[in-house]
Amino acid sequence: MSLYLDAAVAAARAAGGLLREHFGRTLDVNEFHAHDIKLALDVETQELITRLLLEQFPDHAIFGEEGIGGNQDSPFQWIVDPIDGTVNYFYSIPHFCTSIAVRRDGKILAGVIYDPMRDELFATAQGEPATMNGQPMAVSQRTKLGDAMMSIGLSKVTEAINTNLPVLEDMIHRVRKARMMGSAALDCAYVASGRLDAYVEAGISIWDVAAGMLLVENAGGKVVMTPRKDKPGKFAIIASSGHIPEIEEKAAVIAK
Ligand code: IPD
Repeated sequence: MSLYLDAAVAAARAAGGLLREHFGRTLDVNEFHAHDIKLALDVETQELITRLLLEQFPDHAIFGEEGIGGNQDSPFQWIVDPIDGTVNYFYSIPHFCTSIAVRRDGKILAGVIYDPMRDELFATAQGEPATMNGQPMAVSQRTKLGDAMMSIGLSKVTEAINTNLPVLEDMIHRVRKARMMGSAALDCAYVASGRLDAYVEAGISIWDVAAGMLLVENAGGKVVMTPRKDKPGKFAIIASSGHIPEIEEKAAVIAK
């Protein structure tokens, strides 16, 4: 297992180096959307990660936000988000990361999330603790809704935004603070590390949260992923410490 984890860590750190180098510079934009931006650097970063992973595992598959690679018939699939928080990155907001997970026959074996601006590396593997920079981490032990810190992602298309907004409107009055931070992967890592009590969003893709799901579970938390009926390939996620049931109850509307 450590072979996969080490490979994911090395690739995420290499990606992080590239992202640090270009941060704050003028960037080439491949596509502008109403609520999203696609950068040439997203593609370049995924190519770097792909090259590093396939050098070590030439028979494995790559499944990333920027496309697929390798042997798509392999039971081993690397799930890659080269820049999670691309819009933050474009606006020079230093809150983004690289997320890499590997799954075999659908089961996630290892996951890494690297925040290059804070040099925070969140890592875990099946049967092992979740760690931040090598130190074990655990979800928050807070139990009161009023003490909770919660992140609600609004996603990027109208239907998903409209699904998420009622949760924000409701929870903002109940928790200590509701946040929209702009990186689903870091939201998961922050739930795993106890900074957040929960992260909720309808309309995310598997590459946004694959590593984060295993981190939250191995840190003692709970993840509910529901495929969206209206959008194949998209999910609603409720990632939480599991210690504040009201959050899961109230957030369940996004999974309908
Ligand atoms: C996005 C971010 C954002 C979330 C979106 C994601 P990207 O990922 O994680 O926080 O709200 O749903 O798509 O496009 O920056 O990799």
